[in-house]
Amino acid sequence: MPDETPNPLNDLLMQVNTSIFAIQTEDKINFISKDNNFFFTAFKENTGHHIKAFVPAVRLENLGDEGFKKRHGLKYPYIAGAMANGITSAAMVKTMAQNGMMGFFGAGGLCLEKIEENIIDLKNSLKDKPFGFNLIHSLGDPDHEMATVDLYLKHKITLISAAAFMRMTPALVYYRIKGIYSDSKGQIVTPNHVIAKVSRIEIARQFFSPPPEKLVSLLLEKGLITQQEAQLSAYIPMAQDLTAEADSGGHTDNRPALTLLPTMLALKNEFMETYHYKEPLCVGLAGGIATPESAAAAFGMGAAYILTGSINQSCVEADICDDVKKMLCLAEQADVAMAPAADMFEIGAKVQVLKRGTLFPVRADKLFKLYRAHNSFDDIDEKSKQEIQEKILQAKFEDAWTSTKEFFHKTGNTKEIERAQNDPKHKMSLVFRSYLGLSSKWAIQGNLERKMDYQIWCGPAIGAFNQWVKGSFLEVHENRKTAEIALNLMFGACICIRASILKIQGIPLPRGADLFKPMKKKEISAFL
Ligand SMILES: Cc1cc2nc3c(=O)[nH]c(=O)nc-3n(C[C@H](O)[C@H](O)[C@H](O)COP(=O)(O)O)c2cc1C
Repeated sequence: MPDETPNPLNDLLMQVNTSIFAIQTEDKINFISKDNNFFFTAFKENTGHHIKAFVPAVRLENLGDEGFKKRHGLKYPYIAGAMANGITSAAMVKTMAQNGMMGFFGAGGLCLEKIEENIIDLKNSLKDKPFGFNLIHSLGDPDHEMATVDLYLKHKITLISAAAFMRMTPALVYYRIKGIYSDSKGQIVTPNHVIAKVSRIEIARQFFSPPPEKLVSLLLEKGLITQQEAQLSAYIPMAQDLTAEADSGGHTDNRPALTLLPTMLALKNEFMETYHYKEPLCVGLAGGIATPESAAAAFGMGAAYILTGSINQSCVEADICDDVKKMLCLAEQADVAMAPAADMFEIGAKVQVLKRGTLFPVRADKLFKLYRAHNSFDDIDEKSKQEIQEKILQAKFEDAWTSTKEFFHKTGNTKEIERAQNDPKHKMSLVFRSYLGLSSKWAIQGNLERKMDYQIWCGPAIGAFNQWVKGSFLEVHENRKTAEIALNLMFGACICIRASILKIQGIPLPRGADLFKPMKKKEISAFL
């Protein structure tokens, strides 16, 4: 029998790069750490039959999908998702890249100049390290979407996260196809990669399909792509990688991850069969990932990578005021609510936001209901009009309209103003939407006078995270670093996976053996 003094099981589970053997002695089970050669020596020494269970090494860099990591030059399959208005800041994207992961700069809601400034900064500092930018579908402003794509092409941004798309658009197809060629070996090379973010199957189908012929022809007619680019586009999917987005912060269909991911994985297999793409399709998971257990579950279900958002907003690198970060650190799982979205207000789209400590979800909902029920602001009953003007807009409706007009003039979107001048319902929508837009800005800037109107996008993940880190150094926002948290989730996931491998071999775990408390990056590194 091996005579090692057994280590406590938790210590062994943390040594994720080495195997564990459970050895039956006369009256108990001992756990020892050995490499796989132990199988041979133990059997040679005729003690092999005492091996009751085996746990392999589960390395961080073996989580997720090899092909996905290779495609994007990643050490670890972890993405810090885009958060609009630059909340996923250049600093956040940098720290992810410097730690073997990746972040998407939150370009949504920013003007082109701001986006360009950040492109230049990130290109200069990260060179060839992995990073990307967000392309969020602009339902009411296709010109902005195209201008953003032009900017990405101009600066050779070769990876984007495409979100909120309900169908393929000329701008998105243009980005994907531009620059595609066939190399000397006849292999199709596609310089621009799209990682789609999707919660609906019908949209996932469009992303896993080649670009729609109609849009390809349109781009060809406009002279934006060449004949060769058009022809080759028939052999590539719109997106090689797709993030299945379950119930999350911001825009969400509130889909449960447990049902969404298997469906998207099945779809991936169906499209690989149908199209025989040269490079494999990959599906990652986002929405609710905030603890080692949820990260382990995602990888266990077959996610190629994981993507987080809500938890990163409370981190030091997030470009949002400290007051909001403090509010986020206090949030529990039920402290979130769905509220009308500023960008797709008229069609009733919703975003998930924090409800603890702000009246935004209630106020925004009131505005949406009144908009739905009335054809103009004047039609609304006097009491509601007064409440809107005094409490919500904190301005007379016509004054709010004047500021709204100024905003649209500044952004060059004068079509909206013209339409509103002939359509009082549209005018009401623009004014209400401007409140929704400003409420995000107040939260970012920390405008304490409008604290009750803070619009803070976040999902239940933040509550799960706060619960997990209670009592640890990560309880306060000042210590929350995006990459360190990511490493904690992945390291913790490896421990959870190893503990569950032991359990399914019928080995009862001592109490607390599978618990993993947050650790400093330096401490984790000692195990890697
Ligand atoms: C504050 C905030 C802003 C977000 N803005 C965007 C955005 O502009 N574009 C986008 O693709 N996703 C956006 N998201 C979604 C995240 O990228 C990510 O997919 C999501 O937060 C993951 O789910 P989780 O919140 O449960 O972690 C945002 C999320 C948050 C919390």
